[in-house]
Amino acid sequence: MIKIICICTFAILALNSVRSLPMPDYVVPNTPENLERLKNLGPDDLAEELSGQFEGDMVMSPSEIAQLIGGNKNGKTGLIAERFRWPDNIIPYTINEEDFSSAQIHYIHLAAERLMEVTCLKFVPYREGVHTNYIWVTGENSGCWSYVGMRNGRQQLNLTPNNPEVGCFRLYTIVHEFMHALGFYHMQSATERDEYVRIVWENIQAGTQNNFNTYDAQTITQFGIEYDYGSVMHYSRTAFSINGSDTIVALKDLGDSIMGQRVRMSDKDIARINAMYCPLSPRPPPPQSLTEFFYRLNNGMNKLFYNIFSRF
Ligand SMILES: *[C@@H]1O[C@H](CO)[C@@H](O)[C@H](O)[C@H]1NC(C)=O
Repeated sequence: MIKIICICTFAILALNSVRSLPMPDYVVPNTPENLERLKNLGPDDLAEELSGQFEGDMVMSPSEIAQLIGGNKNGKTGLIAERFRWPDNIIPYTINEEDFSSAQIHYIHLAAERLMEVTCLKFVPYREGVHTNYIWVTGENSGCWSYVGMRNGRQQLNLTPNNPEVGCFRLYTIVHEFMHALGFYHMQSATERDEYVRIVWENIQAGTQNNFNTYDAQTITQFGIEYDYGSVMHYSRTAFSINGSDTIVALKDLGDSIMGQRVRMSDKDIARINAMYCPLSPRPPPPQSLTEFFYRLNNGMNKLFYNIFSRF
């Protein structure tokens, strides 16, 4: 009995010490070439592709990158893992106001509002002592980037100040960065992307090829929702291009979709967020495959175990 109590106490102490560690900073410096391009963006350039992080704008630890690229043999990291989700759909955030004009601050709040309008998400002002984990929006000049999913403590999300609808201050680029923080990767990393797009490897800048990885189905899921060319999380046709030629070519009919659009959330973007965070309100589409069915079943079991064990 004493043994069990000791083990429990030790486990609780260990958990608490993990919680109170400051969050490590994995932001890498952007390149001078990217910084130059960020100052002179063309109409088709996306600032988030030029921000110097993994796949342009995702801040990741070296071990996370290794897991993603190597295929995660232990299962359960990234988007699928519940521990990276915001509990109760509440996302506390705060803006480092001295970095921004009042118009820019308004725009950041507007992006959060756009997300709230179509989902059950609740973006709330961060309050010290009330919230432990929260997004800290800053305006350094390195581009636009975010961590993926909820991390421990204060997690930075950066948006280089610009005029509304330019660079990082396109409203749906801000939404894009918030969606990373919610736990979403880029659309063209989808496990099944090769059925939908052809990557033109010879047009990709040398050394940037691993921006076009796909991730296995243990790591990410689309929640049974079909590949979405019009996603706000999709790269543009010319992402990481050597000379402006296409690097991503659609293999199916695009319909009305434009790859790399940042003017709205697509219906499927909204459906994916709701499938991840709001499975009861409104209802997600029915599971489209057996894998998806088992994924949901497994998810339910995880929740149950989590609820039981979190009481100790
Ligand atoms: C861009 O580079 C690729 C690979 O070298 C080449 O095949 C293509 O023709 C080039 N396109 C343009 C527009 O220069």
